Amino acid sequence: MPRIVMGVESSCDETGVGLVRLHDDGTVELLADEVASSVDQHARFGGVVPEVASRAHLEAMVPTVRRAFATSGLKMSDVDAIAVTAGPGLAGALLVGVSAAKAYAAALDVPLYGVNHLAGHIAVDTLQHGPLPTPSLALLVSGGHTQLLRVDDIAGKITEIGSTVDDAAGEAYDKVARVLDLPYPGGPPIDKAARDGDPTAIAFPRGMTGPRDPAFDFSFSGLKTAVARWVETAEARGEDVPVADVAASFQEAVADVLTAKAVRAATESGIGTLVISGGVAANSRLGALAAERCAEAGIELRVPRPRLCTDNGAMIAALGAHLVAAGVAPSPLDLSANPALPVSTVCL
Ligand code: KG4
Ligand code: ZN
Repeated sequence: MPRIVMGVESSCDETGVGLVRLHDDGTVELLADEVASSVDQHARFGGVVPEVASRAHLEAMVPTVRRAFATSGLKMSDVDAIAVTAGPGLAGALLVGVSAAKAYAAALDVPLYGVNHLAGHIAVDTLQHGPLPTPSLALLVSGGHTQLLRVDDIAGKITEIGSTVDDAAGEAYDKVARVLDLPYPGGPPIDKAARDGDPTAIAFPRGMTGPRDPAFDFSFSGLKTAVARWVETAEARGEDVPVADVAASFQEAVADVLTAKAVRAATESGIGTLVISGGVAANSRLGALAAERCAEAGIELRVPRPRLCTDNGAMIAALGAHLVAAGVAPSPLDLSANPALPVSTVCL
């Protein structure tokens, strides 16, 4: 059975290369996790520019692969299998990673697995917390996605329970940061500003929480608009905007809705483990409120460390290792990227 798996990630603005070792007992060990980010090149646009991201991947791919081997002390000939993000993501960005992974797989004569980025965000938790109990519930919160997923088998059966109908949670952070004149990406500066604010100062709306709303879907665009209106009104009156209070109150609304729906979904389906992953999982208030509510409901909470939560190659390598362990057939070498790959397709 292949033992060393290389993972390649290029779906958005991070070029990631990870190396992991699959052990006989099914545990997966992290050996290297190198990331090159083009986030600084997108900052002045307030969001990721696809063409800029693709070019940055092209420049960063080979150096990032080299760094992963250098830090792990492994040789390229040690690699037994390669996994690459096939989707979802930006088409041009995905193609760079898929093309690179195909070339490495052909040159090394090893199997290639084209895998789902979202499943990778869940699989990465096994690098830190060991095998995932099944079923588990995953709350995936990033700049591009906000989803509740039921995981019956990380190598094959992932089902969407709910998702955002408009903005992703991270997108709401990024847009609110712009309104508050905070830098991009908005999550970290809002998290920091909120520490000095009062989360009860402003009662911002909790989207999709009405009695007739779908229980497990999310909506953040109304919240974003409410924050923008509130700030505009304060400015029109010539008042100073209380940035810390606005940040804390906005953050409370996001964390409240995310954790309430996740805990309810777990409780109603009798699932005992909740994994929170994706860039927004690094949020301090989300983590604290999730811990509080999971403890009350008797749910085990698993949140990978921030470095593993944001996009990286180790998550793709980890998923690849679980596919190898499960005996899933590799992908054909003519596989193509699928920007809209559904989460139910773990491997192409
Ligand atoms: O998973 P990720 O690195 O990339 C994808 O979007 O796939 O997530 C990036 C998102 C950004 O929107 C960023 O603002 C948000 O994660 N983020 C945070 C925090 N750190 C990053 N949001 C809230 N609090 C944070 N501490
Ligand atoms: Zn991601």
